[in-house]
Amino acid sequence: MSMDTREFRRALGCFATGITVITARDAAGMPVGLTANSFNSVSLDPPLVLWSLSLYSNNLAAFQNCSHWAVNVLAADQQALSQRFAQTEGNRFGGLDFSEGLGGAPLLEGCCARFECRNETHYAGGDHLIFLGEVERYERFERPPLLYFGGRYRQLGTD
Ligand SMILES: Cc1cc2nc3c(=O)[nH]c(=O)nc-3n(C[C@H](O)[C@H](O)[C@H](O)COP(=O)(O)O)c2cc1C
Repeated sequence: MSMDTREFRRALGCFATGITVITARDAAGMPVGLTANSFNSVSLDPPLVLWSLSLYSNNLAAFQNCSHWAVNVLAADQQALSQRFAQTEGNRFGGLDFSEGLGGAPLLEGCCARFECRNETHYAGGDHLIFLGEVERYERFERPPLLYFGGRYRQLGTD
């Protein structure tokens, strides 16, 4: 079956998600991170989560080799942060307020939740690599989430 990529993307966009910024430290100790909506829960016991990273990402080696990565679940008022971490130009961490999590993975301020994960396994997934992580620490904050649906940012209870 040959597939129209644009139509396929539009169909996938019917699945509403939250937005995360996934962070780590590269081999040189520099913070790395990107916006991802492929995050999902996998298992409660043991506590496992997953997300997928494009094989074309500049951050591929950093995430393959780090000991831990952190999932920062963005709050409704963090759309600018989502855009910042989806752009290739500019220093994504410049002037940003963050603390160090397990393995030095940056923890962003103002999120809904943060999951600090041991970089457990990777699986080949076509043009992406699927990362499975074991959650070693997490935090939850009482803030509404930023949502993504139909290729647009949304908020709970609006549009
Ligand atoms: C809403 C949204 C969701 C995204 N989700 C993912 C994702 O799950 N996996 C991924 O590899 N890239 C995803 N991207 C693209 C990355 O954020 C980023 O643009 C890309 O990784 C290029 O930067 P890099 O080469 O520094 O990684 C998403 C972008 C947006 C705007």
